[in-house]
Amino acid sequence: MLCGIICAYICSIALDGIQKNTMDQDSYLKLQDDIEKEAVSDLTEIASLDDLESWRVDLLGRNGKLTGLLRGISELPVDSRREAGGKANSLKKALTEKYQDHKSYLEGNSSIGSESGTNSLDVTLPGRNIEFGTLHPTTAAVREICQVFESMGFQIIEGPEVELDTYNFQKLNIPEEHPARDMWNSLWIDRVLPDGSRPLLLRTHTSPMQIRTMESQNPPVRVVVPGKTYRYEATDATHEWQFCQIEGLAVDKDITFADLKGTLEEFARRIFGDKRKARFRCDFFPFVEPGAEVSIDCFKCEGDGCRVCGNSGWIEIMGAGMVHPKVLEGVGYDPEIYSGFAWGMGAERIAMLKHGIDDIRQFYSNDVRFLKQFSQ
Ligand code: FA5
Repeated sequence: MLCGIICAYICSIALDGIQKNTMDQDSYLKLQDDIEKEAVSDLTEIASLDDLESWRVDLLGRNGKLTGLLRGISELPVDSRREAGGKANSLKKALTEKYQDHKSYLEGNSSIGSESGTNSLDVTLPGRNIEFGTLHPTTAAVREICQVFESMGFQIIEGPEVELDTYNFQKLNIPEEHPARDMWNSLWIDRVLPDGSRPLLLRTHTSPMQIRTMESQNPPVRVVVPGKTYRYEATDATHEWQFCQIEGLAVDKDITFADLKGTLEEFARRIFGDKRKARFRCDFFPFVEPGAEVSIDCFKCEGDGCRVCGNSGWIEIMGAGMVHPKVLEGVGYDPEIYSGFAWGMGAERIAMLKHGIDDIRQFYSNDVRFLKQFSQ
């Protein structure tokens, strides 16, 4: 407080000095500095809107210190006016902003518990809604699909997204230079071995987990593996470069194609209801024999053909087949005793069919309005 009084006294003498044209530029700038320091230090102590208003009037009001300082510019020597004026104006702007900030701060605080009446807490007002997060449609689809298979006796496991070439391709009967590698355009990790080969990639499918599972346990096997997969490919209404697959594998004695069909038809019935039709067609994957492509009739055109289904009337949701004897042999299972079936489905494609979503790119474009529609 004493400091304030002394400073005010000095200021009044100095402002007098300006008005009498007795002050040089250095003294003017020094005075400006003093006013700023005092104003900022006082502001930090102000805890009420009334005191803040006094601060403003004392500084920025018609007879305020800073206003006086600005008025005095015309009394300075001509060659000093531009610089001194620029600085004084900047100071005025900065202090005005500080005033506004502090005012908002005090107004915010005073709405709780202030006794002035106008800003006090009104307990009769309706409460504010708390926004809850929702599950991403892919997550919701993965959970629902996993529950269906869990109820059929499958165990849910996960595996690495950065995978070895050996597991992603070679042990799945896709040796180097095999043309089937083009089916899964790959994103390779930038690590090169001395022989020039690149051993690591972002997995292009969840099928490597078939091998990892069979290598680590003896039959019977029944697992489902959800997880992210990555492909170096152009995006369109039904293709993303990063999407989620759900792999399935069952190996035991006497497993036949009828088990595969029965399991996947039951899955389709539980997820899509009796109305949707499932179609099995012959397809090629090096790690199964025979292989199949499973499709569901298009939700948009009911099978007539449209942009979503590429005019075919069907949307492919998974590849499947009987585990190839060479793959069984590779992991040490005797193909004369054991047989199995496997599938790999796209979780986003399932969600699209369930909710009538006509463009897969919406899943990862981060539009909350889209994502919130599918909360459970
Ligand atoms: C495979 O990835 C095989 N690993 C599936 C498999 C597993 C076959 C086990 C046999 C036995 P495919 O590339 O067709 O196959 O992909 C399987 C499913 O993933 C497709 O049916 C589709 O639903 C989904 N999918 C494929 N590519 C994309 C993509 N770019 N964007 C979104 N979903 C995709």
